[in-house]
Amino acid sequence: MSVPTVPALSLPAGAAGSRIVGLGHHQPEKVLTNDDIARFVETNDEWIRSRTGIVTRHVAADDVTVADMATAAARHALDDAGVDPLDVDLVIVATATAADRSPNTAGRVAYALRTGVQPGASTPEGEDEPDLRNVVGPAVIDVNVACSGFAHAVGLADQAIRTGTSRTAVVIGAEKLTAVTDWSDRSTCILTADGAGAAVLQAADAPAVGPVVWGSEPELTPAVLIEAPADKFAQDGRAVFKWAITRAADRARRVVEASGLSLDDVGVLVAHQANLRIIEPLAKGLGLEDRVVVTDITESGNTSAASIPMGLSKWWHAGKIPAGTPALLFGFGGGFAWAGQVVLTPER
Ligand code: UT7
Repeated sequence: MSVPTVPALSLPAGAAGSRIVGLGHHQPEKVLTNDDIARFVETNDEWIRSRTGIVTRHVAADDVTVADMATAAARHALDDAGVDPLDVDLVIVATATAADRSPNTAGRVAYALRTGVQPGASTPEGEDEPDLRNVVGPAVIDVNVACSGFAHAVGLADQAIRTGTSRTAVVIGAEKLTAVTDWSDRSTCILTADGAGAAVLQAADAPAVGPVVWGSEPELTPAVLIEAPADKFAQDGRAVFKWAITRAADRARRVVEASGLSLDDVGVLVAHQANLRIIEPLAKGLGLEDRVVVTDITESGNTSAASIPMGLSKWWHAGKIPAGTPALLFGFGGGFAWAGQVVLTPER
């Protein structure tokens, strides 16, 4: 019997690298102050500020979904980049709080970007249903790595672009943590908040997104939970805090080393916004305390996978972050997982 010769499989031509070309964010309008929370649990503004740095947080209305916020952030990022939503061939959403298992959040975002209809909304009265026959939409992927989800998702999008399976990707971190908050638990309800942030990544002639460095800490696997059947956020705050103070700088240093840069080159630190008492020592431990250190936690609380892209986008659009500057993104949390990369901030 003759064995047929199997032809070599072909792979698409990749790109030299990827680059962030636009940033966007969305926060619900409703703001909850520390004093507001002190009306329903035994706490006070002084304790919350001194232990966490949080002053306010934004809370989504009952009928607002993770996909709604993700879509708004994606539209803002696409507008910022001047990229047509129809050119997007990959949507990745990092979230741990989507209420539905299917369609995933990225699928809903892709539908909304394609049709202009908000996720979950019906077509406006008098308008025809969009005709989507024979439309090939983007790849749609949700990534659940809780608070480090966005850095993981940027890593996946960068690799998809470098290997030629995407040219234009929208990467989003979006969370409705208040939907999984136990409002009678003062140790957690003071922390959690809602929002979304997004970045548009495109193929580039030279890498402007460094390699993702990712890993996990098996001993802390049960330290951050949103577990069935209660489906409420719970954590061993002290254990996570201890890890963040003693280990996070080492992991973040590996991220910078992998990029081929040194910490001296890094101009911006965007760490997961879990606690100001973690962000500031981390910046100091890395010798970055005199650079731009994003501290959006004070006004936005902890928004898990949304915290890095939202902080980056808010500070970028506020003009607090310089253009074309190496920024260290570093996320950590549920899993227990961490991930990061050095990215060049977009050109203005
Ligand atoms: O994003 C996912 C990753 N998670 C993190 O990065 C969280 C890291 N951990 C933290 O940020 C901190 O551990 C917390 C902010 C969560 C807690 O701060 P802490 O300084 O570690 O407080 P604690 O849990 O050690 O509690 C100290 C005391 C306790 O009272 P006793 O036992 O000493 O009498 C708590 O009952 O503070 C009490 N407490 C509060 N008091 C007033 C806890 N929550 C509150 C509150 N108001 N809201």
